[in-house]
Amino acid sequence: MTKSQEYHISLEDKYGAHNYHPLPVVLERGEGIHVWDTDGKKYYDFLSAYSAVNQGHCHPSIIKALQEQSEILTLTSRAFHNNVLGEYEKFITEYFGYDKVLPMNTGVEGGETAIKLCRKWAYEVKKVPENQAKIIFANGNFWGRTIAAVSSSTDPDSYKGFGPYVPGFELIPYNNTEALEEALKDSNVAGFMVEPIQGEAGVVVPDDGYLKKAAELCKKYNVLFIADEVQTGIARTGRLTCCEHENIKPDILILGKALSGGVFPVSAVLANDDIMLCIKPGEHGSTFGGNPLACKVAIAALQVVKDEELAQNAETMGQIFRQRIGNIKSPIIEVCRGKGLLNAIVIKPFQHNNQTKTAMDVCLDLKENGLLAKPTHDHIIRFAPPLIINEDELNYACDIIEKTILSYR
Ligand SMILES: Cc1ncc(COP(=O)(O)O)c(C=O)c1O
Repeated sequence: MTKSQEYHISLEDKYGAHNYHPLPVVLERGEGIHVWDTDGKKYYDFLSAYSAVNQGHCHPSIIKALQEQSEILTLTSRAFHNNVLGEYEKFITEYFGYDKVLPMNTGVEGGETAIKLCRKWAYEVKKVPENQAKIIFANGNFWGRTIAAVSSSTDPDSYKGFGPYVPGFELIPYNNTEALEEALKDSNVAGFMVEPIQGEAGVVVPDDGYLKKAAELCKKYNVLFIADEVQTGIARTGRLTCCEHENIKPDILILGKALSGGVFPVSAVLANDDIMLCIKPGEHGSTFGGNPLACKVAIAALQVVKDEELAQNAETMGQIFRQRIGNIKSPIIEVCRGKGLLNAIVIKPFQHNNQTKTAMDVCLDLKENGLLAKPTHDHIIRFAPPLIINEDELNYACDIIEKTILSYR
């Protein structure tokens, strides 16, 4: 690493909280599927800011929308109307097929919003006794870092040392509809909140039919099916939403990340009137939620997904990726799994040059070879490039991964 990169890292180390453990690379520019470090070295970005940059770095039409609106009006708060919010609300609700949207900023706020909405519905419509509403989550879930999000977490790194926790959350195994049905029999259950693929847990893909059955069970027991598509949504898995793979429409859909193409935080909660209208003026909101800048950026970001057929591309490129990586003959790869362009390999800890190597070591070597990816847990590497990647670029990136893996002999 050069002096320049060391300098930037030392500043972060001295003046920033130590709540992340980044790879030792300092990025200064991004365009499309590539990023460059401060020494001018170019990398394939195979994280896409945790799937926020699905449309590619600094997509021209998203940046244009940002620039144009930023010179006119950026924030009014919801104390007043603005002339962009309604246009955006019409656009996104028609795009995803819901009556209404509640605009927020980060993904975790989307999750908080969905839970509040679900609880309110439970008291007003399902008639659950006051303060008794329960939300079911699956083991291994990840939806952010707020107190509510860590209260539903099964990962000690997320929750340990941050109690007391929010009550009313219950955990069941992921990908298990029997356990779900048992849990749903409790008449105080208001919602089941689930990721269609568990991203942070390591791209854990449930069995075909799981989501469909889960949605049916929720309907049977009058419980809201809440899909957390903050990571899987917006074309990442080869469909506009991952739920579309099973032709299901969640009662509440949570979106974030790529809703702005990675330009800044924009999240959204979508539902139909019977649910959304349970929240009344003054009961929920956010200073920045629905700001005109976010609205214009999100319209542009969603338009890019349609115009450039990113869902179709993610589907096709994902198949090539899994075939290429699945064909690498190496004892260190336990499995390659995923959907669309949300994929991961599970690494067996291995010895190389008399040292035990982990997924982090592999990511460091990938970085040296010009590809950025990040481990999730000790033994899983997620590969999630921007969805605009073409076949030649994908093959070149796969060559880097293959070369790196095969170097451990
Ligand atoms: C499935 C899921 N939900 C919610 C979140 C939280 O999003 P944010 O970090 O924007 O709050 C994440 C972040 O990785 C996520 O993967």
